[in-house]
Amino acid sequence: MLKFLHIVGTRPNFMKAAPVLAAMSARNVPQLLLHTGQHYDANMSDVFFEQLGMSPPDINLEVGSGSHAAQAAEVMMRLEKVLIEQRPDWIVVYGDVNSTMAASLVASKMGIRIAHVEAGLRSRDRSMPEEINRLVTDQLADLLFTPSKDGDENLIREGIPKEKIRFVGNVMIDTLARLLPQADLKWSQLKSRFELTDYVLVTLHRPSNVDDEHTLKEIVSALETIAKSMVVMFPVHPRTKGKLAAMGFESSVQFRLIEPQGYLEFLALQRHARVLITDSGGIQEETTYLGIPCLTLRENTERPITISEGTNVLIGRDMNLLMSEFNAIVAGRGKKGSVPDLWDGKASERIADILVHQS
Ligand code: UD1
Repeated sequence: MLKFLHIVGTRPNFMKAAPVLAAMSARNVPQLLLHTGQHYDANMSDVFFEQLGMSPPDINLEVGSGSHAAQAAEVMMRLEKVLIEQRPDWIVVYGDVNSTMAASLVASKMGIRIAHVEAGLRSRDRSMPEEINRLVTDQLADLLFTPSKDGDENLIREGIPKEKIRFVGNVMIDTLARLLPQADLKWSQLKSRFELTDYVLVTLHRPSNVDDEHTLKEIVSALETIAKSMVVMFPVHPRTKGKLAAMGFESSVQFRLIEPQGYLEFLALQRHARVLITDSGGIQEETTYLGIPCLTLRENTERPITISEGTNVLIGRDMNLLMSEFNAIVAGRGKKGSVPDLWDGKASERIADILVHQS
């Protein structure tokens, strides 16, 4: 029987891998899970394994932080040894992070086949490290599982043979749909702990928003204006935490900087928020599924379906637009969307069915 090695590295990989691992395990497929260690803090990694019901990784490369080149190089050197030892027939990689791309480079040169879950997404913005990771991974992959039809179109345009591409839907929604009842159980505790009524939920971590002090200041000052009328809940990513601290910015009653949340806690917070303000990729999708308005602080998105069908609005850097969209939502004129095709909680079943039939 074929042997599969799943590779994860960061927070947004875990919720994508969990349902695929479960679906393959239900089919008795020999498989191992490898964590590159790109994300290593307990609240960026361990809590997700626990809440998603994933067994601890079989192998941890413990690469940690570094420049993109250093991080990718560490993954490549350490992974090569594991692949020589384990000789999987396939690796399965997820999303668009540095670990995804680095693993794909190593496997392809060793003749090990690659399945890419969440293939075909394109922002067409090469200043994003994730866009480079997507382009490289998709060129090297042998099977490309797309979450939406625009992914298929992008891949075909780039010359990827049709027979490698499979539109399976969105695996992240499999996890969301499965764990929503458990997230609901967390709500009453969160509500009383943070004394929540109406609130805005914010996440920010893209280098383009947080690495430059001037840009970050502009965003924070718009959020401060919003905080005058509604509580802002802001779980702070480690990258952003350092930058805010350097700016001397502190938490207040109306503008609350909190630790990164677990999967269930964050899902509960999303479900009850009036609006999300974010630069995340995954949150654009989760809010579309939940029907919560999402204002995205980016010039572009690799997930256009969240705009054409979902609740997402691109704000870019235009803080006046942010304020007017926020006011429209508060006035009850927020965008109403629908759930895209095959975001039905069964994408991982479709992926597992395809993988078990490979030779
Ligand atoms: C990475 C992904 C991004 C994803 C994000 C989710 C790439 C190119 N980017 O960005 O696509 O949306 O994860 O979180 O792969 N750090 C910690 N503790 C941790 C992890 C990171 O303190 O557990 C610190 C690092 O030391 C570094 C910063 O956070 O200073 C950034 O971490 P890194 O993994 O390089 O990129 P992210 O910004 O998290």
